[in-house]
Amino acid sequence: MSEKILVIGANGQIGTELVVALRGIHGVDKVVASDINNPTYAIRNSGPYELVNVLDKDNLHHIFDKYRPTQVYLLAAILSAVGEQKPKMAWDLNMTGLIHVLDFAVEFKTAKVFWPSSIAVFGPHSPQFNTPQYCVMDPNTVYGFSKLAGERWAEYYFVKHGLDIRSIRYPGLIGWKASPGGGTTDYAVHIFHEALKKGKYESFLSADTALPMMYMEDAIRATINLMDAPAEQIKIRSSYNLAGISFTPAQLADEIKKHIPSFEMGYVNTDPRQAIADSWPKSIDDSSARQDWGWKLEYDLPKMTADMLENLKKVL
Ligand code: SER
Repeated sequence: MSEKILVIGANGQIGTELVVALRGIHGVDKVVASDINNPTYAIRNSGPYELVNVLDKDNLHHIFDKYRPTQVYLLAAILSAVGEQKPKMAWDLNMTGLIHVLDFAVEFKTAKVFWPSSIAVFGPHSPQFNTPQYCVMDPNTVYGFSKLAGERWAEYYFVKHGLDIRSIRYPGLIGWKASPGGGTTDYAVHIFHEALKKGKYESFLSADTALPMMYMEDAIRATINLMDAPAEQIKIRSSYNLAGISFTPAQLADEIKKHIPSFEMGYVNTDPRQAIADSWPKSIDDSSARQDWGWKLEYDLPKMTADMLENLKKVL
């Protein structure tokens, strides 16, 4: 079947890379990029683009009607740190936007929907190490509980409407092509920019704050693998744990020092994002993803750091 793919939130950290990857696989004209903002240069010049606000139901309906997508990737969201500054707006965008897409996907018989969840669905009473797929979940950020509620809606639409929805609980994502969008894990991207530009960085998370992270190459591959897997292999319709690589700011700084020996790391101790990070898992158990659809990580900390520095240096 010829695919028609709609990516909503194409300008963001994931969208920027996913659109290019999907266009490489399916062909430029098969992938419609859309965002609430004007397209980035790379996306505007590489294929179809639509301005879309997921909260504008009529306009979104028109876009579904116009393209009749076979696959939709809903990436528009407000992340954890920004969400705490704009809690109602985060809830509205993350929740109402999802429900609009789920309803239109059912109405227009979209074959597959991808929607990202996050490690933010876990909370202070979840097991912190090797956090299992199923456990106590008491997220205390608006972003976290909007994602947890979204997971419930995803499974609900699968059960009640037969919608083939697939999801990943992404760890913090690290890439050189696009900026992160206001999350708690953003330090792990900013550090590379500052290391190359200034040779030093002040981390807003403390030296020993371990968090699960993932290189964007792996995250994009995971997303496409999950979407390509036969439907019967997708046993979890809420969202799959993905472990990635767990490290602390101090460990990341040490790895960067192997490439930039003069790199200096400092720490600010007063950032509200610290409390968010402290409520999240330090490492994740992703055995379900490995068993169900054959997930395998490629980038460990040294490989990710080397690749990130090499590529970022060329575009800064
Ligand atoms: N990286 C996101 C954040 O920090 C988590 O999904 O908000």
